[in-house]
Amino acid sequence: MTIKTFSLGGDLTIRRLGFGAMRLAMGTFDGPAREPDTGIAVLRRAVALGVNHIDTAGFYGRGTVRANELIRAALAPYADDLVIATKVGPLPGPDGVPSGQATPGQLRALVEADLRTLGLERLDLVYLRVGGMTGPGGESIAERFAVLAGLQEEGLIRHLGVSNVDAGQFAEARAVAPVSAVQNHHSDDMELLAECEASGIAYVPYFPLGGGRTPLDTERLAKVAARLGATTAQVQIASLLATSPSILAIPGTGSLEHLEENLAADGLALGEEDLGALRA
Ligand SMILES: NC(=O)c1ccc[n+]([C@@H]2O[C@H](COP(=O)([O-])OP(=O)(O)OC[C@H]3O[C@@H](n4cnc5c(N)ncnc54)[C@H](OP(=O)(O)O)[C@@H]3O)[C@@H](O)[C@H]2O)c1
Repeated sequence: MTIKTFSLGGDLTIRRLGFGAMRLAMGTFDGPAREPDTGIAVLRRAVALGVNHIDTAGFYGRGTVRANELIRAALAPYADDLVIATKVGPLPGPDGVPSGQATPGQLRALVEADLRTLGLERLDLVYLRVGGMTGPGGESIAERFAVLAGLQEEGLIRHLGVSNVDAGQFAEARAVAPVSAVQNHHSDDMELLAECEASGIAYVPYFPLGGGRTPLDTERLAKVAARLGATTAQVQIASLLATSPSILAIPGTGSLEHLEENLAADGLALGEEDLGALRA
């Protein structure tokens, strides 16, 4: 039986099946902005169905349709148990698309912007999102993470996370301040996942459904889905949750239909035969 909740940072109980807000404003990376009213409806339905972990960022948006603003419009005043996680690091270029990284001196303003746009006095979880769209590695993150640790000490942030990091960067951050969550690409490093699990740190795979690019209808997923009378997206989500009790799933969608489908994956029990077939 898969455990349904996780204790984030040791003091926030969240449902492991959460919601990624990036798709609310944009269906594809180069398509038009989505209809804000649909995004608001998706957020309200997600919370009505029990989601209490929403992953967002100030840089998620297309034009004037911004994920943080939609979350505030849909859900404020927020339920006490709702955890909204944000990311800082990427800096939007003139077209709004992230094209550079914030310097240590620019991070405070990004955190303050998240507080303002979400209408919060403290952010529950802020990730330092490192690097561009390529895999993690290379640069030192200690100075930037120390800035976020300072903002945590000031009371603006409850818990800290890191995103798109390798083992060395993860260790660097942990030497500065406690890390409560790691958000890496879903196919990254199983060793990092094991380290998170051993330390009670959440591991949050991004692009859990392949980011709308990698097809989900692989033969393995399709076979198990057919056997269980489920969809491939549901099997993918259930299999992520079965991989480790530290994994939090944040499937993203701007569609009410997909939302209902994805959240129903919580009730999907994968047996040993299914898990074996998926890992074969
Ligand atoms: N830290 C990082 O660097 C980083 C990077 C990327 C994403 N993220 C976070 O991770 C979250 C998840 O990533 P994501 O939303 O980009 O990708 P995803 O969850 O892997 O997949 C979303 C894509 O799959 C489609 N989809 C969703 N449910 C579906 C279903 N049941 N059947 C068929 N298609 C379905 C969505 O289209 P529809 O919208 O039309 O349903 C969208 O195109 C984001 O929302 C964001 O919070 C973090």
